[in-house]
Amino acid sequence: MINHRRFHIPKRTSELIALMAISTTLFLFIHTRDLSSKLKKMEVKMQPEDLVSANQISSGDSGPAPSGLRAMMKILQSTGEMTSLNPYELNNTRNAQQEVIFFNRVPKVGSQTFMELLRRLSIRNEFGFHQDRVQRVETIRLAPEDQLRLAALVSGYESPSVYIKHVCFTNFSEFGLPEPIYVNIVRDPVERVISWYYYIRAPWYYVERKLAFPDIPLPDPKWLKKDFETCVLSNDRECKYLSGETREGIGDHRRQSMFFCGHAEECTPFNTDGALQRAKMAVEKHYAVVGVLEDLNTTLTVLENYVPKFFQGASEIYWDEISKYNTINRNTFKPQVEEKVKEIVRKNFTKEIEFYEFCKQRLHKQLYAIKLLENP
Ligand SMILES: *[C@@H]1O[C@H](CO)[C@@H](O)[C@H](O)[C@H]1NC(C)=O
Ligand SMILES: *[C@@H]1O[C@H](CO)[C@@H](O)[C@H](O)[C@H]1NC(C)=O
Ligand SMILES: *[C@@H]1O[C@H](CO)[C@@H](O)[C@H](O)[C@H]1NC(C)=O
Ligand SMILES: *[C@@H]1O[C@H](CO)[C@@H](O)[C@H](O)[C@H]1NC(C)=O
Repeated sequence: MINHRRFHIPKRTSELIALMAISTTLFLFIHTRDLSSKLKKMEVKMQPEDLVSANQISSGDSGPAPSGLRAMMKILQSTGEMTSLNPYELNNTRNAQQEVIFFNRVPKVGSQTFMELLRRLSIRNEFGFHQDRVQRVETIRLAPEDQLRLAALVSGYESPSVYIKHVCFTNFSEFGLPEPIYVNIVRDPVERVISWYYYIRAPWYYVERKLAFPDIPLPDPKWLKKDFETCVLSNDRECKYLSGETREGIGDHRRQSMFFCGHAEECTPFNTDGALQRAKMAVEKHYAVVGVLEDLNTTLTVLENYVPKFFQGASEIYWDEISKYNTINRNTFKPQVEEKVKEIVRKNFTKEIEFYEFCKQRLHKQLYAIKLLENP
């Protein structure tokens, strides 16, 4: 029955769904800005017919009525909220001063898979592939002289090249070095923190570390067996997420936004507005693309269109080669976590969630802008 109905939905359904998803995001966005009068105007204009007419026109009918897409764009522009849906203006790749990608990957966001994708793309699209080696202690926040050293190292690679490292956003122009192409991926922050929790407890993780650094003691079995639910519900120190707290512990990878905020002191406290604003600013100003793990197809399409020199063919390689036998880093030791426990954690991750939603919305804006270009 359901299959039968699906069969009759017009081809452009996916676009329609994208359109609805974006309008929902926008409504939320505008709500938060408390622009109630503008919202009312949009409510009046954004009737379902607009969406239906978008569907008809893009499937071949031409008529005097403006296409829903164009009507939507006009509304967005009239509210002044969507400053631009112009791919050119959403394209930070054009600001790059060297053809080198700086991928300061966030741990536990499928970045092993993305590294494999980039490695294959480097052969297909002919660019250099460089990655930082495994560190005893991953230092993601660097002193200014180390930031300079890193930026100089990366700028020294022959172009085109990609460089991958777990490190905070490093502002090359601050050191008078040419702006690279910044790329990164984010993930639902609570899923990510759970993933990290079980990752450091997986046997292959600590065995590998023990082999690399024999003097590191093996973890306490009690600690290894502790599950995330118990950790949260028993008020365990390890699973306390307190706003404003600056815990700079080893493996304290709770703050995804920190990878975008930068190396400054202001970036260290957990879940603060200051750090959130800086992270958003860096994304808006510098990042060519911040992909979203939960939205892989959009991520790949946006990468292919905004950073084509490196990413052309990315979807094809991903779906034809990598996804077929990709078990990289899939942690079989990670059990399901109860939704109610996730909800408890979510309540303390408000800024992290806001940052994630911000990146998601930006990615969709970029996708929408190229769709609009294809179907004016
Ligand atoms: C969340 O934050 C509140 C204080 O704002 C704190 O009492 C609570 O323990 C925190 N919960 C977790 C799971 O960290
Ligand atoms: C990066 O540095 C440049 C040059 O100093 C500055 O204009 C820009 O605002 C900085 N970006 C961020 C996100 O701080
Ligand atoms: C993503 O694209 C692939 C290949 O084109 C397709 O098989 C898959 O169903 C798509 N996934 C989603 C969620 O749209
Ligand atoms: C973005 O800019 C890059 C570099 O100038 C260019 O190759 C790419 O086609 C642009 N993409 C879009 C969607 O404008």
